[in-house]
Amino acid sequence: MKKILLNNKSLNGKTTVLGDKSISHRAIMIGALAEGITNIKGFLKGEDCIATINCFKELGIKIVENEDMISVYGNGLYGLKKPKNQLYVGNSGTTIRLISGILSAQKFSSIVTGDSSIIKRPMKRIVEPLSLMGANIESDNGFAPLYINGSNLKGIEYNMPIASAQVKSAILLASLFAKNKTTIIEKYKSRDHSEIMLKQFGANISINNNVIECNPVSKLIPQNINICGDISSACFIIVGALITKNSHIIIENVGINPTRTGFLEVLLKMGANIKFLNIKYINGEKVCDIEVKSSKLKACDISGDIIPKMIDEIPLFALVASLASGTSVVKDAEELKFKESNRIKTISTELNKIGANIIEASDGMIIEGDKIFYGNECESYNDHRIAMCIAIASLVCNEPIILNNYECVNISFPNFFDILENL
Ligand code: S3P
Repeated sequence: MKKILLNNKSLNGKTTVLGDKSISHRAIMIGALAEGITNIKGFLKGEDCIATINCFKELGIKIVENEDMISVYGNGLYGLKKPKNQLYVGNSGTTIRLISGILSAQKFSSIVTGDSSIIKRPMKRIVEPLSLMGANIESDNGFAPLYINGSNLKGIEYNMPIASAQVKSAILLASLFAKNKTTIIEKYKSRDHSEIMLKQFGANISINNNVIECNPVSKLIPQNINICGDISSACFIIVGALITKNSHIIIENVGINPTRTGFLEVLLKMGANIKFLNIKYINGEKVCDIEVKSSKLKACDISGDIIPKMIDEIPLFALVASLASGTSVVKDAEELKFKESNRIKTISTELNKIGANIIEASDGMIIEGDKIFYGNECESYNDHRIAMCIAIASLVCNEPIILNNYECVNISFPNFFDILENL
């Protein structure tokens, strides 16, 4: 469907954003493996996380969804049942990669697949380490569907070739079932929600800088989980307030886990007026209210270890850098090619259609600043983050944008357009 987007608006007022997508997936999965009921508040009812719920229901887990709470009736580490149907993850890379770690260790075989985007995303990155652990996974040359024959697993020592929390988490979940210790060494630290949550559920996990060790345990203990607002969703609203005139917003209860705040660090360097209020910890995750005012931004180069800490926000970086003064360069971000769309290509193409000048590189982009945006017809490529980026860009366009296939925002941020309207 097409949507005509707002232009020339400022954002004002207080809001919250829906629950963190990464944490929501993990709460269902780890809750399903615990012995007893895990109650989850703030769960993100977006399409990706609903796909995770459906997969675990298919694996025999009772999950009760109430208005403001989800209860997962965990059946213990060995309590999953052989699914009658293929497990369908829809568009969710997190679901397929993490669940594969769990399925590798079961006493049954299963098939996992997803939509037209998922079957084009690389799965060798999980098949390789899981196979080293003894998993038996057949794939179409590294692509889904994955045919997983449950096996007895052993611990491994694994140097992560890429910074990926999905790969790390697949190994960690598999390591719960391994007969000995697993060690994962990260060159660049990726988001650590799995480590935090597994520890809370009683897993024997220790973290020493970039080295994670996980020893098998006999059981996980169910927990009450309160999920904070998703920083990646909040970043769209934050950028909306920064780039429009006379904006002043507060987003309450947002997760600011330091492995996720790379983009905020970069925005502060660019001159953004952002304040972190009421900082506290909930379920081991750092949370706060974020206050943002319109700001004049200057260019910034990004590369190296900041990239995994802002991987989902780089399309937004391309947007702010196009409006900032000076030229910005993104390097070491090849991973963007393997997201829901090839985000180096898709964000460059769409922002260039409305007045940006972004040159694509093999591992990033060169982004000329000081641009003035105009209207055009834009595509989302069914990629939720590209759709929301274009919607935010439209706030500073001097003509309307027509956005095709805008409904994909439902993947991670179903009330995105309502929040924009309200602010
Ligand atoms: C995620 C990890 C990241 C991120 C994705 C969610 C997770 O992917 O892009 O949106 O929940 O673990 P990679 O681990 O592939 O970088």
